[in-house]
Amino acid sequence: MKPRIISSYPDAVQHIILPVNLKKPSSIPKPIRAAVKSVTADEECSTFILDHRVYHLICTDNKDYKALMYNAITCAKKANGKAIHIDLTGVGRHEKIVKAVIHGCLLSDYNIHLYQTKKVKKASRRISISGMESGVILRKIIAELTHQVEAQKLVMDIINAPSNKLTPAQFAQKIARTLKPLGIKVSIFGHKQLEQKGLLALLAVNRGSEDPARFVVMEYRAVGKSPKKHVGLIGKGITFDTGGISLKPSDSMHYMKSDLGGAAAVFGAMYMIGKQKPQVDVTAIIPTTDNSIGTRAIKPGDVIGSYSGKTIEVLNTDAEGRLVLADGLAYMCKNYKTDYLMDLATLTGSIVRALGYHAAGMFSKNRALQTQLLKLSDHTYEQVWPMPMWDQYAQQMKSEIADIKNLATKPVAGAITAAKFLEAFVDDHPAWVHLDIAAVAFGESPLSKEKCGTGWGPGLIWEWIKNIESSVRKK
Ligand code: BES
Ligand code: MG
Ligand code: ZN
Repeated sequence: MKPRIISSYPDAVQHIILPVNLKKPSSIPKPIRAAVKSVTADEECSTFILDHRVYHLICTDNKDYKALMYNAITCAKKANGKAIHIDLTGVGRHEKIVKAVIHGCLLSDYNIHLYQTKKVKKASRRISISGMESGVILRKIIAELTHQVEAQKLVMDIINAPSNKLTPAQFAQKIARTLKPLGIKVSIFGHKQLEQKGLLALLAVNRGSEDPARFVVMEYRAVGKSPKKHVGLIGKGITFDTGGISLKPSDSMHYMKSDLGGAAAVFGAMYMIGKQKPQVDVTAIIPTTDNSIGTRAIKPGDVIGSYSGKTIEVLNTDAEGRLVLADGLAYMCKNYKTDYLMDLATLTGSIVRALGYHAAGMFSKNRALQTQLLKLSDHTYEQVWPMPMWDQYAQQMKSEIADIKNLATKPVAGAITAAKFLEAFVDDHPAWVHLDIAAVAFGESPLSKEKCGTGWGPGLIWEWIKNIESSVRKK
């Protein structure tokens, strides 16, 4: 349900979400100023009762977007599905805070219990908002966030679904059913078409599986004749990554149902694009399969072909994401002329070790693009951080018997060597950026007691698309 903008607290609503800057007492509504005194800045969400109302305080001091949003989720969840009112009086001029708080409240009713037989009553939480001077800005923020949150819930459902509930064919169907009604063209290639087209690296990863792979192409075309840019998006869609014959250890293997985080992000972004209809053309590609063991599975040392024509020596079958992406990237570069190209993938454990759980690794030789995305990501939930792309790293991917190998010679800088592998398939695209989202797509979140999908992607991609759209208009 869309939040309502009103001028003061509604009578019936008991739960008030109140973002405040504790360093500026004047920003705190007078009637509760005294009660707020006892609250410290690092508390996630302080709750107190005053005049029959429950106040949930979010301390905004020195917090980034993600922290604010997560605090808002925690606060809103405490209202237990009951109506909430957001009072923006103290923060109305800070768009980032306003956005993050409303964002968290909208996300807070996400239902993680997808496969419980006792269905949770569908909570369509009522949200009202007051205290912001400009209703115009607030309405725009709400409209965008509503679509973004819908997109993120799709992303989370895809990532949270276990592999037996979401096969590549089911995933492709879900994409078509969701995006076609929004005017996006969706083409799905099955096994025969993959063979005909020569998407050999995707087929190679699929060999160990009972379930056939899919290659999904989505095309959004802006209406109108004004000049526009063309953006290409590609997402790694491994529905489950066992590691293949180079089997992963079993202790936390179940997390590998999340190995389609990149594809989910691309799907969510396309949903948002279909809803918002920007003046930018967007083509998206999702190669999807599981990476399983079977008698036909590829083995370490095998040499495979690829859509680009290059041969690949597969030294480790667990480095499968780069194989399916190689075909996705090469297909995009050969069949579409794009101005910008972005791929997203839960690609390496190495990026988790390098950056921890706060940021995605961002790889690009295009400095302007990197700077632009870094700046945009500061105002979204999705933080990115630049990583190097020097050519020396590519030395490690040279193969003796094939054109390239999928595993670096040394077990160091794994996220960078993976990015250098991908670079061999983008045809020197001048504005390509690779985001390694292994640490951020799936993890701890106030939405669940267990690790879960985080909804990473649509927000940043949408900000980027808007930026590209306005750069064309300015010219
Ligand atoms: N899906 C994994 C990467 C991953 C690791 C995602 C942890 C999320 C959390 C990927 O396919 C993989 O297995 N990568 C290997 C590459 C190695 C064999 C070169 C890795 O990072 O260990
Ligand atoms: Mg793997
Ligand atoms: Zn993987």
